[in-house]
Amino acid sequence: MEIKYLGHSAFEIETKGKKILIDPFLVACPNYKPEGITDIFVTHGHGDHLGSAIEISKSTGAPITAVYELANYCAQKGASAIDMGLGAWQNYSWGKAILVPAFHSSSTPDGGYCGCPCGFVFEIEGQTIYHAGDTCLNTEMKMIGEIYEPDMAMLPIGGKYTMDIEHAVKAAEWLGATAIVPMHYNTFDAISVDISEFERQIREIGKMPMVMKIAQG
Ligand code: NI
Ligand code: MN
Repeated sequence: MEIKYLGHSAFEIETKGKKILIDPFLVACPNYKPEGITDIFVTHGHGDHLGSAIEISKSTGAPITAVYELANYCAQKGASAIDMGLGAWQNYSWGKAILVPAFHSSSTPDGGYCGCPCGFVFEIEGQTIYHAGDTCLNTEMKMIGEIYEPDMAMLPIGGKYTMDIEHAVKAAEWLGATAIVPMHYNTFDAISVDISEFERQIREIGKMPMVMKIAQG
């Protein structure tokens, strides 16, 4: 399995010839070519998460998996879509994804209703990866830790709209994950952080900070 960070909350995970994209907002990675994408996951409707998902779905044929209302919005815009409700799971050619709660807001780019904001738990090659989407610290993370036992957690740390570093450290403890990948920081001034402080605090609780460089193309 190979994980690429595409900036903000966007990741590409390649596994056994399949490629999944999560929250493909690609301003930090303008040369990225979404080729061979098998599946797209979108945590909520905000533009910095929906990003280019609809265009990429149309050009690659990869379906967008999202909560029911957001999946319907994507389908109305001509994308292929897979809908789910919170707590539901779905099997894919490469593994499994579970839709889990996030505490945030959500709307379509034109201001419409698109269901609740979400996170995803992915089971790929025996590894469990949690992508939190945009969220504040919340005790559902204890449930996610207990039920899904993530090995890796991708957590927003930028503050202002989501958890900050201090709350992400608490989330890491509750989730029980060993590897903690920061996201949703330094894209805009409002969410700038000192990433060395994240690394220091995550190490302090005995976990591994995995600060990923933004992929070049
Ligand atoms: Ni958001
Ligand atoms: Mn966001």
